Amino acid sequence: MTALTITRPDDWHLHLRDGAMMRAVLPYSAQHFARAIIMPNLEPPVVTLAQATEYRDRIMAALPDGMKFTPLMTLYLTEKTDPDDVTAAHNSGLVKAVKLYPAGATTNSNSGVSKFDTIRPTLERMAEIGLPLCVHGEVTQNDVDIFDREAVFIERVLDPIRQKTKGLRVIMEHITTKDAVDYARAQDETLAATITTHHLVINRNHILAGGIKPHFYCLPVAKREEHRLALRTAATSGEPRFFLGTDSAPHTDANKLLPCGCAGCFTAPNTMPILAQIFEDDNALDKLEHFTSLNGPKFYGLPVNKEKMTLTKKPMQFPSHVNTDDGPITVFDPGYDLHWSVI
Ligand code: NCD
Ligand code: ZN
Repeated sequence: MTALTITRPDDWHLHLRDGAMMRAVLPYSAQHFARAIIMPNLEPPVVTLAQATEYRDRIMAALPDGMKFTPLMTLYLTEKTDPDDVTAAHNSGLVKAVKLYPAGATTNSNSGVSKFDTIRPTLERMAEIGLPLCVHGEVTQNDVDIFDREAVFIERVLDPIRQKTKGLRVIMEHITTKDAVDYARAQDETLAATITTHHLVINRNHILAGGIKPHFYCLPVAKREEHRLALRTAATSGEPRFFLGTDSAPHTDANKLLPCGCAGCFTAPNTMPILAQIFEDDNALDKLEHFTSLNGPKFYGLPVNKEKMTLTKKPMQFPSHVNTDDGPITVFDPGYDLHWSVI
């Protein structure tokens, strides 16, 4: 096959940041993706409908003329979130999900949740009104090894929340383990899981063997090869519960290359060519559209995009860096040549 036309994709987990960084990275998402679920972990976080509305306006103001892109906003769940504000956010039509960060789990998660009982009224309300919960699924206790934090979260936090809150729609975000794939497969249609581009490409050796590679460091951290293979099987299966959330998470090189560097891979510019290659290698090109364009809208109850995207078989050159007024950002390098391009 030398050309593939699919429904224009969406990104169900994206960090656009703000200010100079947002202006630099937004065009890379907008050139390929029609819509994206926009992560609320700004400093300060996007907690209320009023903040989400202002952030959305800043995104639209930064969108270059002639580009079409719809940001689907999220609220950052805190122990003080007001269920009535969540209902108002849902009714506004601007906010499509609420995001749960366990406090301390990742970048700008300090305002997240420590005592999960405190968010019960909000979760009950979300189940009632049908607003989905996006979950960063890692425990944060220091006695739990960082490579085990996702599996332990499923058992200790996620499953109890779902048992207590029947009907709550949950997205397990950026899953990294076979445990998460197996859990997702055993649940009803109220549960879905997103998978990133980079977790389909790298395992933990890529980060740590032969020298430390800060640009492969993200959270949840990449796991053993057997887990990467489980993610590939899930992504390429076409099953409705699995869809793309790139978790494209730009940080300047200055902030990545520190003694305590930031977590995040910036994959917005080359995600679609990387995915086409992965699906081709796994004999699943016919499932690419399900993963990138069909399964997500179905879970969120949104229409599938009307526009199309064509990928053609020709070498894709991507920039090694994107420059911003805050400094350069390194683009995720899968470590091999890419031979699909978006035309
Ligand atoms: C994200 C970020 O930088 O905001 N980092 C990451 O490694 N994925 C936060 C997150 O989604 O965990
Ligand atoms: Zn993220």
